[in-house]
Amino acid sequence: MATAGLKVVEAPPEHRSRRKRPRHNRPPIPLRPLHRIWRRTIDEIDMVRVDLPVRRLQPRLSGIVACQISDFHLDRDEDVLRLEQAVRSINRQRPEFVFLTGDYFSGPATMRYYLDPFRRALAELNPAVGVFAIPGNHDHWSSISLIAEALRAAGARILANEHQTVRVRGERLAIVGIDDLWSRRAEPARAFHGLTSEDCTIVLAHNPDTALYTRHLAPGVMLCGHTHGGVVRIPFYGSVINSILRIGKQYYAGLNRYGEFYIYTNRGLGTFWLRIRINCRPEISRFRLNPLAEDQLPHEPPPPREYRRHRRRSHILMERVSRRGRA
Ligand SMILES: [Fe+2]
Repeated sequence: MATAGLKVVEAPPEHRSRRKRPRHNRPPIPLRPLHRIWRRTIDEIDMVRVDLPVRRLQPRLSGIVACQISDFHLDRDEDVLRLEQAVRSINRQRPEFVFLTGDYFSGPATMRYYLDPFRRALAELNPAVGVFAIPGNHDHWSSISLIAEALRAAGARILANEHQTVRVRGERLAIVGIDDLWSRRAEPARAFHGLTSEDCTIVLAHNPDTALYTRHLAPGVMLCGHTHGGVVRIPFYGSVINSILRIGKQYYAGLNRYGEFYIYTNRGLGTFWLRIRINCRPEISRFRLNPLAEDQLPHEPPPPREYRRHRRRSHILMERVSRRGRA
Protein backbone atom coordinates (compact mmCIF):
# COMPACT_ATOMS: atom_id res chain seq x y z
CA MET A 1 0.00 0.00 0.00
CA ALA A 2 1.32 3.40 -0.88
CA THR A 3 -0.01 6.89 -0.51
CA ALA A 4 1.08 9.25 -3.21
CA GLY A 5 0.30 12.60 -4.71
CA LEU A 6 -2.07 13.70 -1.97
CA LYS A 7 -1.81 17.33 -1.07
CA VAL A 8 -4.05 18.85 1.50
CA VAL A 9 -4.41 22.53 0.83
CA GLU A 10 -5.64 24.96 3.40
CA ALA A 11 -9.05 26.08 2.30
CA PRO A 12 -9.11 29.72 1.22
CA PRO A 13 -11.48 32.02 3.10
CA GLU A 14 -14.20 31.72 0.45
CA HIS A 15 -14.51 27.98 1.22
CA ARG A 16 -15.27 28.65 4.83
CA SER A 17 -18.72 28.92 6.19
CA ARG A 18 -19.49 32.09 8.09
CA ARG A 19 -23.18 31.74 8.67
CA LYS A 20 -24.81 34.03 11.16
CA ARG A 21 -26.60 31.88 13.69
CA PRO A 22 -29.72 33.12 15.44
CA ARG A 23 -28.92 34.65 18.82
CA HIS A 24 -31.28 32.32 20.69
CA ASN A 25 -29.30 29.28 19.42
CA ARG A 26 -26.07 30.52 20.88
CA PRO A 27 -24.62 28.60 23.82
CA PRO A 28 -23.82 30.26 27.19
CA ILE A 29 -20.85 32.66 27.03
CA PRO A 30 -18.33 30.32 28.76
CA LEU A 31 -19.01 27.63 26.18
CA ARG A 32 -18.78 29.83 23.10
CA PRO A 33 -15.06 29.27 22.32
CA LEU A 34 -15.62 25.50 22.36
CA HIS A 35 -18.76 25.92 20.31
CA ARG A 36 -16.87 27.96 17.69
CA ILE A 37 -14.19 25.24 17.42
CA TRP A 38 -16.87 22.58 17.01
CA ARG A 39 -18.66 24.59 14.29
CA ARG A 40 -15.40 25.05 12.39
CA THR A 41 -14.65 21.33 12.40
CA ILE A 42 -17.99 20.39 10.88
CA ASP A 43 -18.52 23.42 8.61
CA GLU A 44 -15.19 24.42 7.06
CA ILE A 45 -14.72 22.56 3.79
CA ASP A 46 -11.22 21.58 2.68
CA MET A 47 -10.48 21.66 -1.03
CA VAL A 48 -8.14 18.64 -1.30
CA ARG A 49 -6.02 18.67 -4.46
CA VAL A 50 -4.99 15.23 -5.67
CA ASP A 51 -2.89 14.05 -8.60
CA LEU A 52 -4.98 10.97 -9.35
CA PRO A 53 -3.17 8.01 -10.98
CA VAL A 54 -5.47 6.27 -13.47
CA ARG A 55 -4.61 3.01 -15.23
CA ARG A 56 -4.80 3.04 -19.04
CA LEU A 57 -5.53 6.79 -19.13
CA GLN A 58 -4.70 8.14 -22.58
CA PRO A 59 -1.88 10.72 -22.42
CA ARG A 60 -4.15 13.29 -24.09
CA LEU A 61 -6.44 13.09 -21.04
CA SER A 62 -3.64 13.89 -18.64
CA GLY A 63 -4.45 16.97 -16.62
CA ILE A 64 -8.23 16.96 -16.93
CA VAL A 65 -9.97 18.06 -13.76
CA ALA A 66 -12.72 16.25 -11.88
CA CYS A 67 -14.30 17.03 -8.52
CA GLN A 68 -15.93 14.65 -6.05
CA ILE A 69 -18.29 15.29 -3.17
CA SER A 70 -20.00 12.66 -1.06
CA ASP A 71 -22.09 11.86 2.03
CA PHE A 72 -24.06 15.11 2.29
CA HIS A 73 -26.48 13.68 4.92
CA LEU A 74 -28.92 16.56 4.48
CA ASP A 75 -30.64 16.57 7.87
CA ARG A 76 -30.66 20.29 8.70
CA ASP A 77 -30.68 23.67 6.95
CA GLU A 78 -26.97 24.02 7.72
CA ASP A 79 -26.25 20.86 5.69
CA VAL A 80 -27.98 22.40 2.65
CA LEU A 81 -25.94 25.61 3.09
CA ARG A 82 -22.76 23.53 3.20
CA LEU A 83 -23.76 21.76 -0.02
CA GLU A 84 -24.54 25.06 -1.77
CA GLN A 85 -21.15 26.38 -0.69
CA ALA A 86 -19.44 23.24 -2.03
CA VAL A 87 -21.23 23.63 -5.39
CA ARG A 88 -19.98 27.23 -5.71
CA SER A 89 -16.42 26.15 -4.88
CA ILE A 90 -16.55 23.31 -7.43
CA ASN A 91 -17.80 25.61 -10.19
CA ARG A 92 -14.82 27.90 -9.56
CA GLN A 93 -12.52 24.93 -10.37
CA ARG A 94 -14.08 24.60 -13.86
CA PRO A 95 -13.97 20.77 -13.83
CA GLU A 96 -14.71 18.45 -16.73
CA PHE A 97 -16.53 16.03 -14.39
CA VAL A 98 -18.30 16.11 -11.05
CA PHE A 99 -18.76 12.81 -9.21
CA LEU A 100 -21.30 12.32 -6.41
CA THR A 101 -20.70 9.16 -4.38
CA GLY A 102 -23.82 8.58 -2.31
CA ASP A 103 -25.51 9.05 1.08
CA TYR A 104 -27.18 12.30 0.10
CA PHE A 105 -29.72 11.91 2.92
CA SER A 106 -29.83 10.01 6.21
CA GLY A 107 -33.43 8.82 6.31
CA PRO A 108 -36.84 9.21 4.65
CA ALA A 109 -38.21 11.99 6.89
CA THR A 110 -35.41 14.48 6.25
CA MET A 111 -35.13 13.31 2.64
CA ARG A 112 -38.71 14.36 1.88
CA TYR A 113 -38.10 17.73 3.53
CA TYR A 114 -34.81 18.50 1.78
CA LEU A 115 -35.33 16.87 -1.63
CA ASP A 116 -36.14 20.15 -3.40
CA PRO A 117 -33.21 22.14 -1.94
CA PHE A 118 -30.98 19.17 -2.85
CA ARG A 119 -32.16 19.25 -6.47
CA ARG A 120 -31.82 23.05 -6.70
CA ALA A 121 -28.29 23.03 -5.25
CA LEU A 122 -27.03 20.29 -7.60
CA ALA A 123 -28.66 21.91 -10.65
CA GLU A 124 -26.11 24.75 -10.23
CA LEU A 125 -23.19 22.43 -11.01
CA ASN A 126 -21.82 23.19 -14.47
CA PRO A 127 -18.93 20.83 -15.40
CA ALA A 128 -17.86 20.69 -19.04
CA VAL A 129 -18.72 17.00 -19.54
CA GLY A 130 -21.21 15.94 -16.88
CA VAL A 131 -22.29 15.10 -13.35
CA PHE A 132 -22.34 11.39 -12.46
CA ALA A 133 -23.90 9.97 -9.29
CA ILE A 134 -24.26 6.64 -7.51
CA PRO A 135 -26.52 5.58 -4.60
CA GLY A 136 -25.29 5.06 -1.04
CA ASN A 137 -26.71 2.78 1.64
CA HIS A 138 -28.73 5.61 3.28
CA ASP A 139 -30.26 6.49 -0.09
CA HIS A 140 -31.67 2.98 -0.37
CA TRP A 141 -32.87 3.19 3.25
CA SER A 142 -34.60 6.51 2.34
CA SER A 143 -36.06 6.26 -1.18
CA ILE A 144 -33.72 5.73 -4.08
CA SER A 145 -36.47 6.26 -6.66
CA LEU A 146 -37.24 9.79 -5.39
CA ILE A 147 -33.55 10.61 -5.01
CA ALA A 148 -32.75 9.34 -8.51
CA GLU A 149 -35.58 11.44 -9.91
CA ALA A 150 -34.22 14.55 -8.17
CA LEU A 151 -30.70 13.80 -9.43
CA ARG A 152 -31.92 13.43 -13.00
CA ALA A 153 -33.92 16.66 -12.70
CA ALA A 154 -30.71 18.38 -11.56
CA GLY A 155 -28.94 17.17 -14.70
CA ALA A 156 -26.95 14.32 -13.14
CA ARG A 157 -26.64 10.87 -14.66
CA ILE A 158 -27.24 8.20 -12.02
CA LEU A 159 -25.28 5.01 -12.58
CA ALA A 160 -26.44 1.98 -10.59
CA ASN A 161 -24.58 -1.09 -11.89
CA GLU A 162 -24.11 0.52 -15.28
CA HIS A 163 -21.60 2.65 -17.13
CA GLN A 164 -21.48 5.48 -19.59
CA THR A 165 -18.72 6.09 -22.09
CA VAL A 166 -17.82 9.67 -22.95
CA ARG A 167 -15.43 11.34 -25.38
CA VAL A 168 -13.06 13.89 -23.94
CA ARG A 169 -10.39 15.54 -26.13
CA GLY A 170 -11.26 12.87 -28.72
CA GLU A 171 -10.46 9.98 -26.35
CA ARG A 172 -12.84 7.42 -24.92
CA LEU A 173 -13.36 7.19 -21.16
CA ALA A 174 -15.86 5.03 -19.26
CA ILE A 175 -17.56 6.16 -16.05
CA VAL A 176 -18.70 3.04 -14.17
CA GLY A 177 -21.18 3.28 -11.29
CA ILE A 178 -21.56 0.35 -8.90
CA ASP A 179 -24.63 0.24 -6.65
CA ASP A 180 -24.28 0.07 -2.88
CA LEU A 181 -22.65 -2.87 -1.14
CA TRP A 182 -24.33 -2.76 2.29
CA SER A 183 -27.74 -2.70 0.60
CA ARG A 184 -26.70 -5.89 -1.22
CA ARG A 185 -27.19 -4.24 -4.60
CA ALA A 186 -23.60 -4.08 -5.81
CA GLU A 187 -23.12 -5.92 -9.12
CA PRO A 188 -19.68 -4.98 -10.44
CA ALA A 189 -19.76 -7.45 -13.36
CA ARG A 190 -23.06 -5.96 -14.58
CA ALA A 191 -21.66 -2.44 -14.28
CA PHE A 192 -18.64 -3.40 -16.42
CA HIS A 193 -20.63 -5.44 -18.96
CA GLY A 194 -19.66 -4.41 -22.51
CA LEU A 195 -16.32 -2.88 -21.55
CA THR A 196 -13.03 -4.45 -22.58
CA SER A 197 -9.69 -4.72 -20.77
CA GLU A 198 -8.46 -1.89 -23.01
CA ASP A 199 -11.02 0.61 -21.71
CA CYS A 200 -9.98 3.24 -19.21
CA THR A 201 -12.53 3.29 -16.38
CA ILE A 202 -13.28 5.67 -13.54
CA VAL A 203 -15.27 3.57 -11.10
CA LEU A 204 -17.67 5.13 -8.58
CA ALA A 205 -18.57 2.95 -5.58
CA HIS A 206 -19.96 4.30 -2.33
CA ASN A 207 -18.24 1.78 -0.07
CA PRO A 208 -14.46 1.14 -0.42
CA ASP A 209 -15.10 -2.56 0.34
CA THR A 210 -16.58 -2.76 -3.17
CA ALA A 211 -12.96 -3.00 -4.38
CA LEU A 212 -12.80 -6.52 -2.93
CA TYR A 213 -15.36 -7.63 -5.52
CA THR A 214 -14.18 -5.42 -8.40
CA ARG A 215 -10.44 -6.01 -8.44
CA HIS A 216 -10.64 -8.77 -11.08
CA LEU A 217 -12.31 -6.29 -13.46
CA ALA A 218 -9.16 -4.10 -13.39
CA PRO A 219 -10.59 -0.64 -12.63
CA GLY A 220 -8.64 2.39 -13.81
CA VAL A 221 -9.26 4.05 -10.48
CA MET A 222 -12.01 3.84 -7.84
CA LEU A 223 -13.65 6.81 -6.07
CA CYS A 224 -15.50 6.14 -2.80
CA GLY A 225 -17.07 7.80 0.24
CA HIS A 226 -19.12 6.26 3.08
CA THR A 227 -16.53 6.41 5.88
CA HIS A 228 -16.60 10.18 6.63
CA GLY A 229 -12.82 9.87 6.83
CA GLY A 230 -13.07 7.89 10.07
CA VAL A 231 -14.59 10.96 11.84
CA VAL A 232 -11.81 11.32 14.45
CA ARG A 233 -8.26 11.32 13.04
CA ILE A 234 -4.91 11.52 14.82
CA PRO A 235 -1.93 12.81 12.78
CA PHE A 236 0.41 9.99 11.59
CA TYR A 237 -2.00 7.39 13.01
CA GLY A 238 -5.32 7.84 11.24
CA SER A 239 -8.77 7.21 12.58
CA VAL A 240 -9.24 6.05 16.17
CA ILE A 241 -12.44 4.27 15.17
CA ASN A 242 -12.18 0.53 14.60
CA SER A 243 -12.54 -0.50 11.01
CA ILE A 244 -16.04 -0.79 9.61
CA LEU A 245 -14.35 -1.90 6.37
CA ARG A 246 -13.14 -5.37 5.53
CA ILE A 247 -10.60 -3.93 3.14
CA GLY A 248 -8.80 -2.18 6.00
CA LYS A 249 -9.04 1.09 7.88
CA GLN A 250 -6.28 2.74 5.83
CA TYR A 251 -8.99 3.11 3.16
CA TYR A 252 -11.03 5.39 5.44
CA ALA A 253 -9.65 8.49 3.71
CA GLY A 254 -7.39 9.73 0.95
CA LEU A 255 -5.42 8.06 -1.82
CA ASN A 256 -4.37 4.46 -1.27
CA ARG A 257 -3.12 1.76 -3.57
CA TYR A 258 -5.00 -1.54 -3.70
CA GLY A 259 -3.06 -4.08 -5.74
CA GLU A 260 -2.81 -2.70 -9.29
CA PHE A 261 -5.03 0.37 -8.91
CA TYR A 262 -5.71 3.27 -6.58
CA ILE A 263 -8.73 3.96 -4.43
CA TYR A 264 -9.60 7.49 -3.33
CA THR A 265 -11.92 7.88 -0.33
CA ASN A 266 -13.59 11.26 0.14
CA ARG A 267 -14.29 12.37 3.76
CA GLY A 268 -17.79 13.58 2.87
CA LEU A 269 -19.55 16.89 3.48
CA GLY A 270 -21.96 16.04 6.27
CA THR A 271 -22.21 14.10 9.49
CA PHE A 272 -24.46 11.27 10.54
CA TRP A 273 -26.09 10.84 13.96
CA LEU A 274 -23.31 12.41 16.07
CA ARG A 275 -22.31 15.80 14.66
CA ILE A 276 -18.64 15.27 15.35
CA ARG A 277 -15.48 15.60 13.29
CA ILE A 278 -12.02 15.91 14.80
CA ASN A 279 -9.09 16.68 12.50
CA CYS A 280 -11.30 15.38 9.71
CA ARG A 281 -13.00 18.30 7.99
CA PRO A 282 -15.61 18.09 5.25
CA GLU A 283 -13.99 17.67 1.86
CA ILE A 284 -14.21 18.54 -1.80
CA SER A 285 -11.76 16.38 -3.75
CA ARG A 286 -10.27 18.14 -6.73
CA PHE A 287 -8.55 15.60 -8.99
CA ARG A 288 -6.06 16.17 -11.75
CA LEU A 289 -5.99 12.93 -13.74
CA ASN A 290 -2.63 11.37 -14.57
CA PRO A 291 -1.78 8.15 -16.44
CA LEU A 292 -0.53 5.45 -14.05
CA ALA A 293 2.76 4.07 -15.38
CA GLU A 294 2.02 0.39 -14.75
CA ASP A 295 5.47 -0.82 -15.79
CA GLN A 296 6.95 1.33 -13.01
CA LEU A 297 4.45 0.07 -10.46
CA PRO A 298 6.16 -2.56 -8.30
CA HIS A 299 4.08 -5.68 -7.81
CA GLU A 300 2.29 -5.38 -4.53
CA PRO A 301 -0.49 -7.76 -3.52
CA PRO A 302 -3.55 -6.16 -1.97
CA PRO A 303 -3.49 -6.10 1.83
CA PRO A 304 -5.32 -8.94 3.59
CA ARG A 305 -8.91 -8.29 4.55
CA GLU A 306 -9.64 -7.20 8.08
CA TYR A 307 -12.11 -9.19 10.09
CA ARG A 308 -13.46 -7.56 13.21
CA ARG A 309 -16.49 -8.34 15.29
CA HIS A 310 -16.90 -4.55 15.61
CA ARG A 311 -17.74 -4.22 11.92
CA ARG A 312 -20.86 -6.35 12.23
CA ARG A 313 -21.96 -4.49 15.37
CA SER A 314 -21.49 -1.06 13.80
CA HIS A 315 -23.49 -2.12 10.74
CA ILE A 316 -26.40 -3.24 12.94
CA LEU A 317 -26.21 0.00 14.92
CA MET A 318 -26.38 2.14 11.76
CA GLU A 319 -29.40 0.18 10.53
CA ARG A 320 -31.15 0.69 13.88
CA VAL A 321 -30.50 4.44 13.80
CA SER A 322 -31.74 4.61 10.22
CA ARG A 323 -34.94 2.74 11.09
CA ARG A 324 -35.54 5.15 13.97
CA GLY A 325 -35.25 8.00 11.43
CA ARG A 326 -37.89 6.34 9.24
CA ALA A 327 -40.43 6.09 12.04
FE1 LIG B 1 -22.70 5.14 3.64
